[in-house]
Amino acid sequence: MINIFHLPNPQPPTPTVNIEVNADDKKIIRVLKGETLTPPPIWLMRQAGRYLPEYRATRARAKDFLDLCFTPELAIEVTLQPIQRYGFDAAIMFSDILVVPHALGQRVWFEDGAGPRLEPLREAADIARLSPGGLREKLAPVFETLRGLRRELPEQTALIGFAGAPWTVASYMIEGQTSRDFATAKTWAYRAPEEFARLIDTLVVSTSDYLIAQIEAGAEVLQLFDSWAGVWPEAELRRWCLEPAAEIVRRVKAVHPEVPVILFPRGAGLFYEAFAAEAGAEGLSLDTTVPLEWARERLQGQVALQGNLDPLLVIAGGAALEQGVTRILESLGNGPLIFNLGHGITPQAPPEHVEQLVAQVRGWRPGT
Ligand code: CP3
Repeated sequence: MINIFHLPNPQPPTPTVNIEVNADDKKIIRVLKGETLTPPPIWLMRQAGRYLPEYRATRARAKDFLDLCFTPELAIEVTLQPIQRYGFDAAIMFSDILVVPHALGQRVWFEDGAGPRLEPLREAADIARLSPGGLREKLAPVFETLRGLRRELPEQTALIGFAGAPWTVASYMIEGQTSRDFATAKTWAYRAPEEFARLIDTLVVSTSDYLIAQIEAGAEVLQLFDSWAGVWPEAELRRWCLEPAAEIVRRVKAVHPEVPVILFPRGAGLFYEAFAAEAGAEGLSLDTTVPLEWARERLQGQVALQGNLDPLLVIAGGAALEQGVTRILESLGNGPLIFNLGHGITPQAPPEHVEQLVAQVRGWRPGT
């Protein structure tokens, strides 16, 4: 088992930006504190991205994708684009989960059309060489982006900070790219769990500190993305996904108990129940495969739910999209719900279909 209790404690708080008195009035925060709002608030995972022509225009002005993430002026601009177009209830700061391995000293780059690439970790010595010390300095542009966003966002729009969960980030660090079966990373964890635990522990400590610093720069809600949680059997799902997430929540809440946290253990299946009961987060983001009635009965009494429209329905549009939205609203809309997708929006999604989706959610009343 990873011994989470022997990890160093989070750094003490640094001075915070002016936190508006009305943060608790923002709809997404009210839902995460247990209220049911009708209609539910809405934002979309990857809402700033290639499906928007204005994103592609700004992206063309940056040298490469990491440059876009690390240039506050451009990152602020693309974060605001979907807010200006659709009036979403939350903005998610524009960045990527792979800025953390970059800050730990690993080489990370993005090849156009091919996705992320990293110089892969191959042995224990590569893990030992990671250097968490300079994380706050290396990620300073992200904090500047957050401070700028707090100045520019409409006052009703909540600002979401995020990070990748340790397993998902570790999988990229070991595989060096997106993988089909995660064979190298999983085999490492099975063969040498103590070595693998060192990597996960390093990520737990760094990610907690990174999220705490995001709050101090203005993030009002946090989301932890465990996009590849679904590849593990039960025991390893607990050990490499649930326990690290719970430890990150504990560390963040030790410093900032008031900031709500949403976990996204994509593909966790029946194990979503353990996340609801044990992780200590206010919200769970459901992937597209989670059955709605099951979620209502087994999860929604314990945590606020977010999700879970199939992103491909946004490409389809029309009656299929309308029916998918209706099902979610009717099943989950009478409890704490943040309407969202079950995974990120795709570059092929027509912007008019997003408009249709937002209009339908905003026009919904129970029984309609
Ligand atoms: O939600 C938002 O609007 C904020 C931005 C955001 C991005 N990545 C921007 C991005 C967020 C929250 C992420 C998280 C992220 N990044 C995850 C977890 C969520 C998920 O979708 O599962 C993961 C696994 C990554 C790693 C990553 N970054 C991959 C696999 C890719 C390539 C896939 C693709 O769509 O091309 C990226 C690149 C990336 N991150 C893009 C964007 C907008 C596209 C790059 C570009 O514009 O050239």
